[in-house]
Amino acid sequence: SDKTAFSTSLLEWYDRHARQLPWRISPAASRAGVRPDPYRVWLSEIMLQQTTVATVTPRFAAFVQRWDGFPALAEAPLEEVLGEWAGLGYYSRARNLHACAKVVTRLHDGQLPASESALKDLPGIGPYTAAAIAAIAFDRRAVVVDGNVERIMVRQAAIERPIKEAKAAIYALAAEVVPDRRGGDYAQALMDLGATICRPRRPDCLLCPVRSSCRAHALGLEAQLPVKPPK
Ligand code: ADE
Repeated sequence: SDKTAFSTSLLEWYDRHARQLPWRISPAASRAGVRPDPYRVWLSEIMLQQTTVATVTPRFAAFVQRWDGFPALAEAPLEEVLGEWAGLGYYSRARNLHACAKVVTRLHDGQLPASESALKDLPGIGPYTAAAIAAIAFDRRAVVVDGNVERIMVRQAAIERPIKEAKAAIYALAAEVVPDRRGGDYAQALMDLGATICRPRRPDCLLCPVRSSCRAHALGLEAQLPVKPPK
């Protein structure tokens, strides 16, 4: 099978349909070699860990208006950071955010590291967030797998086991189809596909750029997959 078909079709679709979000740059700018501000990518990924895009969007704008980079955030009193976080929940995220800004400012000269392993050593950054930041901020060929990507891969391969029992196979498939170039656009294209087309319920296969390689669609199983775990 052609391993590049999936990413090629997905990236072509992203060039035309990328969502404009306040922490993103356009696919045209990205292709021209521009990268987004790593501070903004990091902040957006932490906010999006347990909160929706719709809720995060205005809160992200307010936050970056108040503190525009790692040194400014590191200097802020923790109580003010917690105040700005009000209503977003999971306050350990805000505490880790502040701690991370201090580490980046003092130990990394105000620059977020680009490698996944160095990112994972920072407060509040786990394997998923490290991969997402490496891809989006630094255009690395990272394997970014969240629940949305798991669902997309399960449908592409028509995996009929519950996600919980197929984690390794799903991750291996996701790793196989990452393109050699455009790691950042590719990661965000998967996020957009999962949010707008390959939704949990009633996926919109007629509009899907990767329908032709989707085994679930070929078998008419897209609405049945992923299967729920047995009780
Ligand atoms: N969910 C997690 N990270 C995201 C991002 N960068 N854009 C949209 N949704 C996301």
